Parts: sequence; C-alpha cells; structure tokens
Amino acid sequence: MCGIVGYIGQENAINILLNGLSALEYRGYDSAGVSIKTDKKIETVKTKGKIMDLASLIIEKKINLNGHIGIGHTRWATHGIPNTINAHPHFTDNVSIVHNGIIENYRVIENELKENSITKTTETDTETIVLLIDMFLKDMIPQKAFKKAVGKLKGSFAIAAIFKDTDTIMLARNESPLVVGISDDAVYTASDISALIEYTNKFIFLEDGDIAEITQNEIKIIDKNDKNIERGIKIIEWSKESAQKGGYKHFMIKEIAEESESVKNTIQSRIDTNGNIYLKEELEIDEDFLNNIDRITIVACGTSYYAGLTAKAVLEKYTNTIVNVEIGSEFRYSSPIFSKNNLFIAISQSGETADTKESLRFAKQSGLNTLSIVNVKESEIARMADNCIYTLAGPEISVASTKAFASQLSVLYMLAFHIGNIKGKDVKKEVQYLLEIPHIMQNTFKQTKKTTQLLAKKYHKYKNFLYLGRGIMYPIALEGALKLKEISYIHAEGYPAGEMKHGPIALIDENTPTVIVSPNKEPFYSKTISNAEEIKARNGKIILLSDKESQIADDILNLKSMDYLFSPFVYVIPLQLLAYYIALYLGHDIDQPRNLAKSVTVE
Ligand code: M6R
Repeated sequence: MCGIVGYIGQENAINILLNGLSALEYRGYDSAGVSIKTDKKIETVKTKGKIMDLASLIIEKKINLNGHIGIGHTRWATHGIPNTINAHPHFTDNVSIVHNGIIENYRVIENELKENSITKTTETDTETIVLLIDMFLKDMIPQKAFKKAVGKLKGSFAIAAIFKDTDTIMLARNESPLVVGISDDAVYTASDISALIEYTNKFIFLEDGDIAEITQNEIKIIDKNDKNIERGIKIIEWSKESAQKGGYKHFMIKEIAEESESVKNTIQSRIDTNGNIYLKEELEIDEDFLNNIDRITIVACGTSYYAGLTAKAVLEKYTNTIVNVEIGSEFRYSSPIFSKNNLFIAISQSGETADTKESLRFAKQSGLNTLSIVNVKESEIARMADNCIYTLAGPEISVASTKAFASQLSVLYMLAFHIGNIKGKDVKKEVQYLLEIPHIMQNTFKQTKKTTQLLAKKYHKYKNFLYLGRGIMYPIALEGALKLKEISYIHAEGYPAGEMKHGPIALIDENTPTVIVSPNKEPFYSKTISNAEEIKARNGKIILLSDKESQIADDILNLKSMDYLFSPFVYVIPLQLLAYYIALYLGHDIDQPRNLAKSVTVE
C-alpha cells in the first residue's frame, strides 16, 4: 500500500527520499513521486511505475532538486487509475502533500472547492486536501491553513506537507500510521519505520488526531484535543542488514531460509530449558480469567488468518475452549456472539491491516479482553490491544508472507500450552518438542529445496492447481494455494480433502495437478489417500507431501516423520518453496507481485 517518506536536515533531501521510498517498495505500489523545497520554490517529479523510473526521470529532466526539505510517496491506487497525474505528491505553487489512506468526504470538499471556483485536475481524493490547504493559505499562515484543512477531513489519513514559504514539514494522522524519526542533525517522517532504519533507530509514533510540525531541530505535536503533547521516543532495534537481501535473489527465498531462525527467536526467549513458558510479562491477563476462559475469538486476514485456523485445533485441545477463527473483513460487519470470559486475538504481521485493526477496535468496544500477535514493533494493532505478544521474525519484506506465518504459529502454540498449563494440563513434553521445531524446520528447508525446484520445473506451465489437506493440514493446503496464486498468478484452490468430492472434483483432469499434504497420521492419511484414488481415477496428477511412500503419487516429496501436532511448521516450507520456484520459472516479480500490497491499510 502507499508509503510516505519526508526529510528535513542538512543533506540533499532527494537521496534520502529515494532511499526511503526504495525501502518501502515491498509494500506494493504503482507510482511514485517526490517534492523538494528548493530556493523559494517547490519542485515535484512523479511518474507511474517504479522508483527506478522516478530516478531515471529526475536524471532525464535535469530538474534542479537541490534542497534540504522534501517529501516522497509510493502510491497504491484507490481513487483513480495508476497514472502520473494521479500519483503523489499533489501540489499547488504554495504547498505539496503526500497522503496515505482514504478521504471519505472528498466529494463534499470538492463541492466546497467548486463554490470557490477551485476545480480538481486529478481523479484522486488526495487532491482535495491540497486544494483546501491552498485555499486557506490566502488568509493564514501554513501551520494554521494545514490544521484547518485537516479539521475538515473524514476518513483515514497520514499526511505530510511542505510549503513554499516555510521551512517545516506538517504532519497529520488518523487511522493510518505515521512516525517521526530523529537523528542528531535531521528529522524524518515515514509511514513505516523500515524506510528510516538506515538513518535512525529513534522514533516517535504519532497517534490518531495528532498534528505535528517538524523542523530540523524541533518537533511540536498537538493532540486531538488541541493540546500540546510530548510523545515519547522509542528505540527500535531492527538492523539495516535484516531488511536487505543478503546475497539472496529475492526477499522471499531469504525469508523462507530465515523461517526456522525466526521461530527460534520467537520461542527461545519465552521458554526455559526446563520447558516453562514465560508469557506473563507480555500477557498481563489475570490467571483466573485464563483459567475460566470460555471462548477464544481469533481475527486475521490472509496468511495470518491461516495461522489462526491452523492453531485452532491446538488451542481447542489444550485450553478446552471453543475457538472461532474469523476473517477480518467479515467479522467487523457481523453480529458475533461473545461469551463472559472471551479472549479476543488479532493476528497481523504488519500490525496495520485495516480489517483486522477495525475488528480489534470492535472487540475492544464490546469490552473484550484483547491480545494481538504482531511482528512490526509499535504498529497500530500492537499498540491498540490490551496485550501484545510480538513475533520475533524480524522485518518481512516480501509481499508473500512466509517466516511471519511460522512465527505466528509458534506464538499460538505457546499460548495454547500456557493456558493449558494454567488449566492444569502437563505440557512439558509438548513444550520440549516445540523447542526442537526450529532444527527440524532448518533441515526441511535444506532437504526440500532441490526437490521443490525440480517439481517447479516440471509443473510451472500448468494453469490450475488444487491443494488438499485434512485436519491440521487443511489450513496448510489453503496457505500453499494462496502462496502459489499470489506470486505465480496461477489459479490455485485449497480444499479440505474430503470435501473435494462435493464439487471441486469436477475440475480434475490431466491438466489440473493436485498437491496433497498428508503426514502419516490416522485416520487422516488413509482417508486422504482414498481421495487421491478418486483423483487418479480421473487422470489427475498428484504431488504428495508425506512421510509415507505411496504408489498413487506422480511425484512424492518425502518429509521426515514427526509429531503430527507440529507438522504444520514443517509442511508449509516445501509449499512456500514450490510457489517460489514456480514463480521464478515464470519470471515474475516475486517480492512485489502485481496488484498486491504488503500492508493492506484500506478496506
Ligand atoms: O500484515 P497482516 O498479517 O495483517 O496481513 C494479512 C494479509 O494481508 C497477508 O497475510 C497477505 O495475505 C499476504 N500477502 C499473504 O502472503
């Protein structure tokens, strides 16, 4: 989704802006632009396409972009097609702005502007903001004009604005993240800390309703009640290297390779060698509540939703509690039934996903005890929930989520064992096994890399795939199908293996390979193999992932036998690799697949 970067300091702003925007590329975008305050003028360059296209345009046009104050943007189109004119910044002679989010009342503002004979030239909602500020600038100083315009906006927004006549950047946020980064001789802003970790580890996180004015030496913030406010500085220890490719061809393969490490990081600091889980500090929930918990509601989207769906069985088994797992965009407009001791869990890698965030807000308003499981430090969802357990996966840059998934699973498993323990279950054996999982995952990655590559070579030209699994492997089949469609653009459907005969079997022929995920665990294995027979009888091709040989498979990806409960951690790896290598054979933009965004901050 859209990304913002801003700089005010002593360096030439353009290099810092382009660097920051490149670091935000992973979020997904279709156009990019910058505005720099040069000597008494604002210069703007923007284009449809990538940051590289923007950089080439700047060189080609030989525009003087020397200046120490600037803003930049990557746009993911919502209002108006992705083209140069709709790209940000939007500007007049006096002011230039970049905006993330959606202005819900932009048509009302448009009418107000028309009444003042001001008309838009783009299809965007954002242009109404800049025209409004410009209109107010006739009668007031930039800070006041900005504030007055922001006061009229309804919707979600993070805005950064620069002005011809003042050396400041004005910022505003409502339901869309915006941070201020601080170094010794400069102040930065960005929608996401990863744009700035090359420059600083000190951040201020603006809150909803905040308006800030930044200069090179000062940060002034007023809150939604119009009061001056100090927001604390947080130190974020993410290294620059962890957000770089480190010799890998793509972030996705690097992140799959890091998957075992990220699970290790996530669990090791919370489990001691005697198998005790330490979640108390992060989970300040009364043990009485956890002991009497009578429902767990999990809400998430995409891969995070599948992590919740996978862990459902584990949570139910160890907590003896009903677990509902819901998709964010559906949950927030439903009429869910909550119970007395209902724990609500929001899962999100980015901590920004609008549907998950609004579901969490809804749960909070309904008086539920809320917990978030989030990867990005200090993100919205992390801060909004009563408690947050961070996954320690490090920055996940590739749009296709991989290492975050396994880390989310590891938190959910720990949680299940933790609550189980409070409820009197002996979980020592399970916790010990969880500690061994990173090692098993690492071996699986090494052992399946070559085979999945060969499978990808054989199967990359097929146009449709079916993914089947049963029990705990059903969500893993869903996740495998999601990975394939996201980056290879091949149609793939995940299904519970037993449900195939109720419809999807009509798709089976020699042109539709089926990936079957089935560890050797009864009754699941035999039942799934029966489903495989049904496929074979219709000339379907079968790729089997299992620890048991079978004559039925055209291709078998042999995995080591292990405890069934933990097999999702392991079986997901070859599925991620298969999707990766198929996309590689097809020559796609793996880390930034078309139409997708890393953080989906709109509904
Ligand atoms: O940041 P989140 O975990 O909240 O994101 C949720 C989904 O948008 C995300 O998992 C999406 O499905 C990924 N592209 C999957 O690879």
